[in-house]
Amino acid sequence: MIIGVIGSGGREHAITKFLSFSKKVNKIYCFPGNAGTENIATNIQIDLNNFEKLKNFIDENKIDLVIVGPEQPLVDGITDYLQKFNIKVFGPNKIASQLEGSKIFTKKLCEKYNIPTAKFGIFTNSKDTLNYLGQVNYPIVIKADNLASGKGVYICNTQDEAIVAVEEIFDGKFGEAKNILLEEFLNGEEMSFFIITDGTTIKNFGTAQDHKRVLEGDKGKNTGGMGAYSPSRLYSSEIEKKILDRIIKPTLKGLKDLGTSYQGFLYAGLMIVNNNPYLIEYNVRMGDPECQTILPRVKTDLFEIINSCVNEDLKNSNIEWKDENSVCIVLCSKGYPEKFEKNVEIKNLEKLKLRNNSYIFHAGTKKIQSKICATGGRVLNFVSLSENFSSARKEILENLNNLNWENGFYRKDIAHKVIK
Ligand code: AMP
Ligand code: GLY
Repeated sequence: MIIGVIGSGGREHAITKFLSFSKKVNKIYCFPGNAGTENIATNIQIDLNNFEKLKNFIDENKIDLVIVGPEQPLVDGITDYLQKFNIKVFGPNKIASQLEGSKIFTKKLCEKYNIPTAKFGIFTNSKDTLNYLGQVNYPIVIKADNLASGKGVYICNTQDEAIVAVEEIFDGKFGEAKNILLEEFLNGEEMSFFIITDGTTIKNFGTAQDHKRVLEGDKGKNTGGMGAYSPSRLYSSEIEKKILDRIIKPTLKGLKDLGTSYQGFLYAGLMIVNNNPYLIEYNVRMGDPECQTILPRVKTDLFEIINSCVNEDLKNSNIEWKDENSVCIVLCSKGYPEKFEKNVEIKNLEKLKLRNNSYIFHAGTKKIQSKICATGGRVLNFVSLSENFSSARKEILENLNNLNWENGFYRKDIAHKVIK
């Protein structure tokens, strides 16, 4: 089989790596990939907004299956476009991708199907929003209705903070803002819950907890994710049943009622309050860095799982898991998530010796004149599997210390809730 993987992050390097272990996979193209995927696949620079060019490349190179990593092409309808030409694609269609593309679409679905979520209000201009903000209890959560890589969310403790948020959103900080969402603040613990579905069968695809804040102790600015651990300490079969019955199944039914169905990975970002799950947000893809943390725990051939999903035969796929726990720490460029230097060489990387059960997945890297350079804010993902979280993290910290990249920084406290 010849596979195409769309994306360039740590998630896509991890997906490419585990696909490359499959006997059934002969060749992988990454669009555009990074310096990590380059060693196991062919990186292709193509404008991902130009679906026709991509389709022509897929035809000419006889690609059998396309796997879409990030949300943007899904929300833009890449699946619908390629499927019109009978190309097999793993990832939801445009309507279903609104689960991530529009927070308001999801909130309305929650309302209609009684899915537990924070109480909310939708406003279309700053005057009404600001009026309303004079009458509410704080903290309150304010969200832009755009794809904002997790950055369009404000937790406001005072009315003054709320006013700044409303102004920034309506001023277009996250793109043109037609709507703004005000949400009740849910006080609980977060959990990332993943499933894979072919439209009929639903299978668990692991749980994790990520650390979004840039500083140790979960402080500072929000980022794309500084690290994660899997499984989540909140997982139990009891909570899983509640999540499936109250959240996932009604959502998939809602999409069916709209005349469509969901195929691919679905990521539910949940707040667990008193052992009950509330939906915070959906993502129509694997999480990043959750994917890098979860895939090493999967025993079953990743290609077989994805292939059975696109062939709508997931019920016959048995997804087996390792017992070990997994931790991922993200090595970032100094300055991230604000300004950082680009094209800085990462010396020592190719000399680093990893033990079994340890991995490095590239994110913002590129080979420039045969040197591996950092081009992004999140640069490398260090992952280790172990029988306990503590030894997994210790192994990662040793590897990071051996790399000793001067331009990088990372959090040493990832997984602190499960490590004494
Ligand atoms: P989102 O992009 O919707 O996942 O929001 C980013 C982060 O903001 C989440 O991971 C939560 O930590 C926090 N958050 C979002 N909505 C709420 C809420 N209603 N109550 C408490 N925290 C929230
Ligand atoms: N780790 C958060 C996300 O992938 O959206």
